[in-house]
Amino acid sequence: MNLISAKNFTRDSVMSILHKSDGFLNTANKSMATELHDKVAGLLFFESSTRTRIGYEVAAYKLGMNTISMDTFKPSKSTGWSETMSDTIRTLNSYVDAFFVRHPSENIFNDIIPYAHVPVINCGNGYDEHPTQALIDSYAIWKRFDRLDNLSVTFIGDVRYSRCARSLMILLSNFEGIVINIIAPEQLIPDKRLLRMLDKKVRVNVITKDDLGHEDILYSSGFAPTNPSGTFTHETVIDYSITLEDVAKLKDTCIIMNPLPRIDEISHDVDYSDKAYYFEQNRMGLYVRMAILEMLCG
Ligand code: CP
Repeated sequence: MNLISAKNFTRDSVMSILHKSDGFLNTANKSMATELHDKVAGLLFFESSTRTRIGYEVAAYKLGMNTISMDTFKPSKSTGWSETMSDTIRTLNSYVDAFFVRHPSENIFNDIIPYAHVPVINCGNGYDEHPTQALIDSYAIWKRFDRLDNLSVTFIGDVRYSRCARSLMILLSNFEGIVINIIAPEQLIPDKRLLRMLDKKVRVNVITKDDLGHEDILYSSGFAPTNPSGTFTHETVIDYSITLEDVAKLKDTCIIMNPLPRIDEISHDVDYSDKAYYFEQNRMGLYVRMAILEMLCG
């Protein structure tokens, strides 16, 4: 069983993982020895990561598992060549019980899936998807609202090239009564293919900051330092970042989310608002990652 895209989620599969995550949260974050003690998670992270990589490492330790890590293909000293991803996968197949992969290429799984004999989990592939972050985000939303139906979510920033925003939008489209609002410069509104797919299941509106105030969740997508639409001026980033002035327009019950790392898309003084939910959202990640590890390696 692989976990490559949020398109593979169903309402039932999402809820099953969230309930499993809740089981781990309710064990009060204690280290526990399970039947996973002889399992090994293979962390192949070819892009930097704090939360996802360390999050899976800690989740594995909590379950009594071990991890191995790889983050470069070092060229051989004698030939200058480095090995291929497919050979790496064929080699590590016999050592690990699942592959957790982050890579800058959107197509990387074409070089992995045909060769992998154990589950493969997408931990971020270029500008495409980050489905396990979407599970963490949905768990954090569910914990706050006790539902994933009938929610209005406003995505702000680089919504097009944010793999976290893309996967969360796709995941939420499995639920009823979802409204997705997008606040972004024109070139950073999601591509038509995604919008058409979402449009069949949820209501999608393109709005401006002046329209803030009706959403349950304000999800800051951030700005990738480089993306295919080019670089941005500092003014663009400021225009689409969240400030205390924006927070003042939000409903009392609204929460502000961000997958982190936060660069400059949320002003630091917003952290002290009771609507700032991003560090709590991050905290939920441990339990969801434990649930994913147990589900795929157990
Ligand atoms: N949210 C997230 O994917 O963070 P990292 O890049 O630190 O893993």
